[in-house]
Amino acid sequence: MEKIPLAIVGCGGMGHRHLYGLAELRNAGLSPFELVGACDPVTANAESLADDAEERLGARPTVVERMEMLEHLGVVAVDITTTPRYHHIVAVEAVERGWHAMVEKPVGLTVRASNRIREAAERTGKIVSVAENYRRDPMNRLGKALLDAGVIGAPRLMIHNTMGGGNQMTISVWRHQKNQSGVLLDVGVHFADILEFYLGPVRTVYAQTRLHEPIRHNPAAAQTGGASNNPAGVYGKWQKRMPAQFEATAEDAAYATLLFENGAVGQFIEDHAAHGQGVWTRQIHGSAGSLALPPDRSGQLITLYKNGESICDETLLDLAPDFHLEPITAALFGGERLWGYSFPFPQTDRKLIAAEYGELGRAIESGGPIEVDATQGGRSVALSYAMLESSMAGRALTMAELLSEEIDGYQLEIDEELGLRSAPP
Ligand SMILES: NC(=O)c1ccc[n+]([C@@H]2O[C@H](COP(=O)([O-])OP(=O)(O)OC[C@H]3O[C@@H](n4cnc5c(N)ncnc54)[C@H](O)[C@@H]3O)[C@@H](O)[C@H]2O)c1
Repeated sequence: MEKIPLAIVGCGGMGHRHLYGLAELRNAGLSPFELVGACDPVTANAESLADDAEERLGARPTVVERMEMLEHLGVVAVDITTTPRYHHIVAVEAVERGWHAMVEKPVGLTVRASNRIREAAERTGKIVSVAENYRRDPMNRLGKALLDAGVIGAPRLMIHNTMGGGNQMTISVWRHQKNQSGVLLDVGVHFADILEFYLGPVRTVYAQTRLHEPIRHNPAAAQTGGASNNPAGVYGKWQKRMPAQFEATAEDAAYATLLFENGAVGQFIEDHAAHGQGVWTRQIHGSAGSLALPPDRSGQLITLYKNGESICDETLLDLAPDFHLEPITAALFGGERLWGYSFPFPQTDRKLIAAEYGELGRAIESGGPIEVDATQGGRSVALSYAMLESSMAGRALTMAELLSEEIDGYQLEIDEELGLRSAPP
């Protein structure tokens, strides 16, 4: 069968990780893609990805600086892994050129930018798939199957609390800049997606947000020589060139109460500035028990608490008889009914990205479904901003107010910079 010509647009850390995902899919004999292009205005990054591709895929994609240069390569789909600020520009251009697109989260830098992508996808009929990897973790699939099987009864409360980070840089400088995708969007959008994955649409949000650490430190800077937060080990060469310390302009902590459409309540803490005890808690409490869910991509086990007992082993599967991973995920992780897994992080990372590519390929070839489209991806962006907007407005906000762009006081200056709205008179 003819392979689908694909280009990776944005060849930084995640661009490289996506390449590893593509290679993982190919090694499993499941890749419908041929990587023909590597696009980045920073040519050294595109060259680095092309070199890596040659080694892992056996063929070197053409390096280009701009999207229009992909036209003569016969591209059918692009994988957009640029920094979030450029997602809407690149994604809208891609679908208007007639290409399908997978876009890393957050789908757009603001709600308005995300809406522009959704509208372009609707207008052109092209696929826009948001690369949301956390929900594809087999443990989240099992957690959701247990919930759907009614094992804990009707859900009443979801707790999602993460704390840590102190005053250290989270991967890169741009993740601390409000106009580039601050950490409450960049990381928070994953958690927003997870909240709606488990409990369905959120209706209202009340939050307090803070910028606790206005100066962030990068221990990997050349002059310091330490190690920074470096997922999958791909960021080191760039982190060395980043400043040892810099000013953060984006809020780094959110404390929120949510109401889901189904009546359940969410209690949400995302604090990237905590200096004390590190916290990870994700629990769902229902009318008949509760689930404690492990950190995403860890492969750790789910614990069910019910009738005064806890279950944290294979017998969980008996309670979710309908639980089956999608065929591609099952092939990559080695079983369709997993209750745990154990791979080094880079391997887990690339398997989840491979699953995203697998879904995209199926959708292009046979019209298969896209799990996280621009609408759902846009909801996660809206939920992340709902916390920042609520803190600014000093009241609870509805998701409808966010999605309709009616409430955008926090995002205003970003949208103005992006040219998505003119400054008020
Ligand atoms: N799903 C996950 O687990 C996960 C993890 C990390 C990053 N991400 C996402 O991936 C995206 C990229 O993050 P990253 O960590 O790779 O950032 P990065 O800074 O390492 O790389 C971004 C790359 O995009 C390039 N770029 C910028 N504008 C471009 C344009 N118009 N056309 C082509 N290339 C362009 C930059 O030159 C750079 O090479 C972000 O949206 C981020 O949120 C997702």
